[in-house]
Amino acid sequence: MNRRTFLQSSAIGATSLLLSRNFSFAAANGADSRIEVLLDEPLGTISPNIYGHFAENLGGVLYDGVWVGPKSKVPNVQGLRKELIDHMRKIKAPVVRFPGGCFADSYDWRDGVGPADKRPTRTNFWAGVAKNGPAVHKYDPNQVGTNEFVEFCKLVGAEPYLAANVRSLPAQAFVQWVDYCNSPAGTTTLADMRAASGFADPFAVKYWGVGNESWGCGGSFTAAEYATEFRRYSEWLPPTATPLSLIASGPNTDEWDWTRGFLEEIVRKGHGQLDRIYGMALHHYAWNLARGRTNDWDAAKGDALQFDSTDWYELLREGDRMEGLIDGHWQVMGEIDQQHRIKLIVDEWGPWYKPGSEATPEDILEQTPSLRDAIFSGMTLDIFNRNPEKVAMANCAQLINCLNSLYLAHGDRFVITPVGHVFDLYSSHQGGEALRTLFTAPPVHYDRDGKPATFWGLRGSASRKGKTLTLTMTNPHVSQARTAEIVLHGAGVKSGTVTSLTHTDIHAHNTFSQRDVVIPQSADLKVSGNNLMLDVPAASVLAVKLELA
Ligand code: AHR
Repeated sequence: MNRRTFLQSSAIGATSLLLSRNFSFAAANGADSRIEVLLDEPLGTISPNIYGHFAENLGGVLYDGVWVGPKSKVPNVQGLRKELIDHMRKIKAPVVRFPGGCFADSYDWRDGVGPADKRPTRTNFWAGVAKNGPAVHKYDPNQVGTNEFVEFCKLVGAEPYLAANVRSLPAQAFVQWVDYCNSPAGTTTLADMRAASGFADPFAVKYWGVGNESWGCGGSFTAAEYATEFRRYSEWLPPTATPLSLIASGPNTDEWDWTRGFLEEIVRKGHGQLDRIYGMALHHYAWNLARGRTNDWDAAKGDALQFDSTDWYELLREGDRMEGLIDGHWQVMGEIDQQHRIKLIVDEWGPWYKPGSEATPEDILEQTPSLRDAIFSGMTLDIFNRNPEKVAMANCAQLINCLNSLYLAHGDRFVITPVGHVFDLYSSHQGGEALRTLFTAPPVHYDRDGKPATFWGLRGSASRKGKTLTLTMTNPHVSQARTAEIVLHGAGVKSGTVTSLTHTDIHAHNTFSQRDVVIPQSADLKVSGNNLMLDVPAASVLAVKLELA
């Protein structure tokens, strides 16, 4: 555990600090960086749903991760892992997406309702995908269906976000799923079926994805073909007390043509069609491909735990594309949806490494998140915070035992990854008023296999809730700490705390046997005088909380 002191000094004026624009990095106060928070430049309210999650029926996510079964010795609430529920409550998990992902377009929701012992066993889309071990979880036992998933969300305090099957089920099945979930008991046969399972109250599911990655596993549609399907699937859905927010399957990374082609076809039937769409999904995974080690796709992804500093920066650079992707797709969307009725839903994001670091080897697509992934996640959440008008929801891929997991679990073992800690550090941004910030810091210079490369030196985001200001940031430099002067334009400060997540080893990660290698450290900020100086350790994620005067 790194116990470096990260807080250098302390001192903030109780009045607004108006600093000279000619800040010099050779400042007498010893700062090499500056963070300005512009309290009079609000950017919009940060949707809590930006801090959302994704739980696909894939590998160990549901079975072992979320679900242990009611007869398990592992503490559970109606079969759902209690420790997971407790932690998700702590980080105020706002929304969870289910059942996929690619799994969604081969899933029949009707298999997952009714008495658990009567539910069929089906093949799983992900069967046989694992190259590195036995393909367990090959079959879908359907023990986690709609009832169990919605119950899980309820226990966590999150909204469910269900993804409907467009590739392999007719639109009628979507209509009936909405009916099952949202019709009041006593009105339809499906609502009564739900009530008979012990759920008299409608599930009131608001968020519905219409397919997933419809350009690929969701049907290999062209953008125009998918738009036609979207219109058909959204033409009529049961009118219930819960207004539906439909999410269209959107582009992968920088596929601008998908965004444009989809919307152009949608409005071929009039611009009023845009009102059906709450959000357009955007997926962006970061692969460490830049160094072109091999043509083998799995090997080319880079390893979760074995990497050098160039891999570190290259992976962060790939993740940092997110801001340009948000801006780019937003611009394309604005060509057709000039009033920006449709928001971006980044419902899959995170780094994706090659197999080999799994805590539970048979869990496909599991990887062990390290400090690098904490920086990646902090950086990504800061990007979302800086774009509150554009991004209405985001879902980290995935919640547990898969890709950028917040948690790893196997049987009775459970650990919070560095990514899980970042979500905790950042949770107070939820629902806050995002504020414009200016980060000035020396850039990182590194060697990309013989060629010079640079990356930004310090970035973050700020939000305000009444008298509380949350300021989060990441220092991507693998070895250089920063001393940052924090300047608030438009308010003074009474008191503050800072919580940091870092380690002297950039590969540091938590395991079932060493759960506290990367954990947050908190300290008070002493407030006096007229400067707030903050030491930002190398390779760190920081959350500063200030009580405004
Ligand atoms: O998150 C894993 C998979 O990545 C999802 O199922 C799919 O949507 C994406 O390609």
